[in-house]
Amino acid sequence: MFQSAALSGSKAEQYAELAAQARGLLAGERDRIANAANLSALVYHALPGLNWVGFYFHDGHELVVGPFQGQPACVRIPLGKGVCGTAAATRQTQRVDDVHAFPGHIACDAASRSELVVPLLAGDAVLGVFDLDSPEPGRFDAEDQQGLEAIARLFVESLA
Ligand code: SME
Repeated sequence: MFQSAALSGSKAEQYAELAAQARGLLAGERDRIANAANLSALVYHALPGLNWVGFYFHDGHELVVGPFQGQPACVRIPLGKGVCGTAAATRQTQRVDDVHAFPGHIACDAASRSELVVPLLAGDAVLGVFDLDSPEPGRFDAEDQQGLEAIARLFVESLA
């Protein structure tokens, strides 16, 4: 049974603990759906102030929703559209303090106010994105971005 321990210490220490928990959770398993589902649950319950955590996968044409925690979400997102499609098309993390100010933001859960989307990069390929939403404006800072980019890398590495 997986025992999640409450995160403590500075933000950097908390993300180091979360990464260690993620490594344990993914160890020895390469299945994309299994690992995305467990990581979504881990992160959703470990971090405060989130209303959606999950994955969109690139099917070769557009992004299609994968495992997540939160309210039911938009199923398909074209590359370049919304925060997720922008992260996938630019291969750059999108950290948005106020989603209402992001041109083309796709509202899946009306409660979402800020969002962090990390592209899942494997060499030249964009496998999809790791998406986190918060009902609080400006929920994600540079440390959150760093910590969650590390979690996204652990996910990609788990598939190899
Ligand atoms: N807001 C995202 C869509 C996905 S949901 O937040 C789960 C976007 O603009 O791409």
